[in-house]
Amino acid sequence: MVHELIELPFKTDSLEPFMDEETVKIHYGKHHKAYVDNLNKAIMNYPELEGKSVEWLLTNLDNISEEIRQKVINHGGGVYNHNFFWEILKKDTKIPNEIETAIIERFQSLENFKEEFKNQSLGVFGSGWTWLVLDKNELKIVQTFNQESVISKGMFPLIAIDVWEHSYYLKYQNRRAEYIDNFFNIINWEKVNELFLEEKQ
Ligand SMILES: [Fe+2]
Repeated sequence: MVHELIELPFKTDSLEPFMDEETVKIHYGKHHKAYVDNLNKAIMNYPELEGKSVEWLLTNLDNISEEIRQKVINHGGGVYNHNFFWEILKKDTKIPNEIETAIIERFQSLENFKEEFKNQSLGVFGSGWTWLVLDKNELKIVQTFNQESVISKGMFPLIAIDVWEHSYYLKYQNRRAEYIDNFFNIINWEKVNELFLEEKQ
């Protein structure tokens, strides 16, 4: 199976001004695409991996030859994480009841959740991601480094913020905090709620 770059589920300018069009174009068209191309290159000579989805690859790392395992983590993770990231971005959505209640139960308030999510995102040293996940039915905020993915750790993602500099440098330069503050304006809460309802028990 040749992995393909997914279609962006929104117009490149639709997250303005919080995430600018130029950043979306380069992030998706160059960075995300490069992960797809490099994943295909990495697995090219491993016919046993043909037909395997990126989700399968990342949740079966032990079954992947050591020679290419790190490349699959890096580039496969890059593909999956970005596929997921675009999926949960949309401006002006309202938070549905179910996920709001669960967040308040776990983090006391939506504001507390945002504060903790922001602190963890600021605390990623170097490149990586911060996630809201369901881990054995419990809501948690976790970090991953480089392109490591939460699905490789058996967790189910609900929200992800990319804190690699390529995701904000054009607009925000070194102001990661401002990028994170604005990220809260473009979370697709309807999609997050859908994922939550699909996975929680
Ligand atoms: Fe990225």
